Amino acid sequence: MTTTIPDLRGRSLLRETDLTAAEFLYLIDLGAQVRSQKRAGQRPNRLAGRSIALIFEKTSTRTRSAFEVAAHDEGGHVTYLGPGESQLGHKESVKDTARVLGRMFDGIEYRGSAQRAVETLAAYAGVPVWNGLTDDWHPTQMLADILTMRDHSVKPLTDVCYCYLGDGRNNTANSLLVTGSLLGMDVRICAPEDLQPAQSVQDLARSLSDTSGARVTVSSDVTAAVAGADFLYTDVWLSMGEPESQWDKRIDMLLPYQVNAKVMAATGNPGVKFMHCLPALHNRDTEIGQQIYARRGLTALEVADQVFESSASIVFDQAENRLHTIKATMLATIGGRP
Ligand code: CP
Ligand code: NVA
Repeated sequence: MTTTIPDLRGRSLLRETDLTAAEFLYLIDLGAQVRSQKRAGQRPNRLAGRSIALIFEKTSTRTRSAFEVAAHDEGGHVTYLGPGESQLGHKESVKDTARVLGRMFDGIEYRGSAQRAVETLAAYAGVPVWNGLTDDWHPTQMLADILTMRDHSVKPLTDVCYCYLGDGRNNTANSLLVTGSLLGMDVRICAPEDLQPAQSVQDLARSLSDTSGARVTVSSDVTAAVAGADFLYTDVWLSMGEPESQWDKRIDMLLPYQVNAKVMAATGNPGVKFMHCLPALHNRDTEIGQQIYARRGLTALEVADQVFESSASIVFDQAENRLHTIKATMLATIGGRP
């Protein structure tokens, strides 16, 4: 239990390990608190007078909306700099952009490919920088996901087991592996050997688990990996920035890792819940879904529609919790003590 309130003012969130376990848990507690306040119609205006830059070098629905609504809810102002909409990258370096935006804004969100870019921004902006997704990490997603797990489990978090199936090298998989390890949970990554997390990420997870008591498993055996899990989690098989030409190869590798009714049943847990950071390819209602159906005859990729639409699916709770936990992150780092 957290006894003192961590002081995160002025801090950046570039990866999960920027936080101690206590700080991480504090942010999800604060996320739950601001969720209750919003539901009660309270508008404390804790970001009044604060200006926030949102740099998106990749597209977004949830992350952008969460930052914008969270800021507006609390009286803050946002400036959205979307893909190709600023000088960044073409005419101006990250280092120069950081020094400009740091003179104008109180906090900066960054989504792009290179982790190095968000780190350079933080090093030179002089104001808190929040990683809204890079190829390596997706820390604001993790705050929402762990809050969602806590909402949907009666167990203490350290007794909770979650298993991620799919592309084990992407940002979401890396972040899930490291977050569960930081918090002392039972965390499993299930992926074909060629798509398992980099050794450096596995080493980091194992060193965190030495302190936290986490149980960390990386394997390719679906039946063993999902046994006893409280939550099954998956993500898109081809992430933003990866060449579309890779789809067929990726489908061939990952079809055995699709989360479907059989995999849910293999947990042996009738209360198992399904999670996904979204967006998800679970039917033919998207351009990519249609293209893949035309080429391969598949109606769903990483998750079967039957699971996605089932009562076990908590994906929209996750999506909503992006708002509350991102608000908590901004309040804690630039809003003063809430
Ligand atoms: N989960 C997530 O980051 O969604 P967006 O890409 O829509 O922001
Ligand atoms: N792994 C996905 C996550 C999207 C939120 C991607 O990077 O596209």
